[in-house]
Amino acid sequence: MSGPDLRHAAAARAVALVEDGMRLGIGTGSTANVFVSLLGERVRAGLNVIGVPTSEATRIACEAAGIRLTTLDDTPELDLTIDGADEVDDNLRLIKGGGGALLREKIVAHASRRMVVIADATKRVAMLGAFPLPVEVNAFGLGATRRSVEAAIASSGCAGSLGLRAAQDGTPLVTDGGHLILNAHLNRIPDPEALSAALWAVPGVVEHGLFLGLAGGAILAHARDGVAEITILGAV
Ligand code: A5P
Repeated sequence: MSGPDLRHAAAARAVALVEDGMRLGIGTGSTANVFVSLLGERVRAGLNVIGVPTSEATRIACEAAGIRLTTLDDTPELDLTIDGADEVDDNLRLIKGGGGALLREKIVAHASRRMVVIADATKRVAMLGAFPLPVEVNAFGLGATRRSVEAAIASSGCAGSLGLRAAQDGTPLVTDGGHLILNAHLNRIPDPEALSAALWAVPGVVEHGLFLGLAGGAILAHARDGVAEITILGAV
């Protein structure tokens, strides 16, 4: 049983949560992509939903799958957001943004009455932080912002290095919102709430990849005896 099989199992369980007439937030990444393609099958079979994509990549995938799209301007309140995660702990705190879409992902999740995470169970961790935490920053004043982010990290009991995320061609990655991303290699985040507050206090930080109090449930797939098994955290 491979990673794609597990992502498929988690996404299939999430698609079953979607009801006719729902306004959806639609996540970004390889697991969310599977959700998009399974949702597209249900739409072609007659399901009536409308969705807000969390990235340009997801918007393109939704259009190809025939999923009707809207914006948070026209539809400011959503019923359900389904999205992947890079890490999830047992309190449903997340690190997201491995795909660089954290800002739109967080805005969409916050506008949603319910957020459910889909992932393979390797994303479940006892403590957040092994995955580099993305911090989305304005390009203006990058050097000063970087120093302030380093100080914020130290003030919240974490330690580690910061790196500017690069695109595949080696140039700095520019997000859908036109910003840059600093990856914080922290290894351990003992107090995610303190780190979140410290990062938000830095002018120039647009958003960070700690999703705290947003996810209501997680659908995690792992393999047992060659079959995908689902573990549910929280409520879905
Ligand atoms: C996108 O910015 C991320 O938050 C993704 O949701 C996260 O990286 C999970 O992606 P995968 O499903 O590809 O692991």
